[in-house]
Amino acid sequence: MSSIKVIGGGRLKGEIKIQGSKNAALPIIAATVLNRGITVLRNCPRILDVFHMINVLKETGCKADWEGNNLIVDTTDITSTKISEGSVQKMRSSILFLGALLGRSHEVSIAYPGGCSIGKRPIDYHLDSLKRMNVTQEFLGEDKSIIHCYTNKILGTDIFLKFPSVGATQNVILTAVLGEGVTRIFNAAREPEVYELCSFLIEAGARICGKGTAFIEIEGVKELHDVEFTLSPDRIVAGTYMAAVAAAGGDVILRDTPNRHVESVIRVMEKVGCRIKADDRHMRISCNKRPLPYKMLITQPYPGFPTDMQSQLMTVLSIADGKSTIIEEIFESRFQNVNELKKMGAKITIEENKSKAVISGVKHLEGAIVKAHDLRAGAALVIAGLIAEGETIIREATSIERGYEDICRDVNSLGANARYCSENIL
Ligand code: UD1
Repeated sequence: MSSIKVIGGGRLKGEIKIQGSKNAALPIIAATVLNRGITVLRNCPRILDVFHMINVLKETGCKADWEGNNLIVDTTDITSTKISEGSVQKMRSSILFLGALLGRSHEVSIAYPGGCSIGKRPIDYHLDSLKRMNVTQEFLGEDKSIIHCYTNKILGTDIFLKFPSVGATQNVILTAVLGEGVTRIFNAAREPEVYELCSFLIEAGARICGKGTAFIEIEGVKELHDVEFTLSPDRIVAGTYMAAVAAAGGDVILRDTPNRHVESVIRVMEKVGCRIKADDRHMRISCNKRPLPYKMLITQPYPGFPTDMQSQLMTVLSIADGKSTIIEEIFESRFQNVNELKKMGAKITIEENKSKAVISGVKHLEGAIVKAHDLRAGAALVIAGLIAEGETIIREATSIERGYEDICRDVNSLGANARYCSENIL
């Protein structure tokens, strides 16, 4: 288990190139099994979640190799449709193999993903939708924790999602692509990563209309073909470094930023006092005073403010010149960072059934030993370390490596002082 040590102080100045998108890469890696052949994914981030997803691919008999940031996947032969419990526990996104393997092999066994640190994260929308597509489900094992799904043919139908779940939308698309007839998804998630999965599948020969909208229509095709596809830059990594500048101050250029996909984040950053200039691919963000408070920030499905940016914004607002409120609407346990920020001197109270945080900005944070409860909370603590007086140690920082290729390298290229160290030498 690794830790990150950050010595705080100093404004940020320089340039960072934004890595490829994690949440686009994960479903597309699952989607590769729908093609019997070779897929090349360019600009694939080299992060733990992608490595886990590759391990799941290998469990099914597929092969994968890296050439720099290009991932070459050979899905010619599938030798197993069983995904081990260990894989699903390591990473919830392995649940996307549910739809992908059903599409390819008409059968899949996968462990039920348990709760995780940001909340319950059930998969009832995934399972209810698949049932409607002629997929039989049995729950096996002593505690009925293995889901065994099979079908003689996937039948297109109308799916109405109660909530625009990203994962459920992606699983229905993956199941429907090689099915029979037309599947229509109502109240589909509009996140850019759903759009990108559709773009990938269309390039590989799928027939999909309505990508990026709440109504997606998939007409089943017989097979897909080999494709080379370039993944977009990661909107949450870009947002994280925007938050770092908002908190620490400075003048930074972000190269390869998906500016269209971070509009809600840009609006918030401008309101807290940042100046932002953006064209199609790059962004310049600068900030030269203490952040302004934000009256009411509510996390919402895309195009609203993303839950994956909530922790980073909380760090920014912890040193704002006044009182701010954040309402977390998507995941119920995403305020775990509050206790960590309090160890650094932040003044935050949680109210109303734990979904509302009221943040009274303090002038500065102080270095402390804190723990990364999840990926984005960990990144938010690195930002807190940048602005704190003295030394901050973020324990269990491995969770940050799930989504950031090298957060220390990136912030150090802006003049910060952050480094990985092993927990037992601290
Ligand atoms: C994806 C993202 C994650 C992001 C989230 C919301 C990936 C790999 N992960 O997660 O980073 O924070 O979208 O933008 O892309 N729900 C149910 N039943 C279900 C499915 C979901 O009740 O069957 C609920 C969840 O508990 C949650 C909400 O719906 O409250 C949103 O979840 P969902 O959009 O499915 O998130 P993920 O796909 O897991």
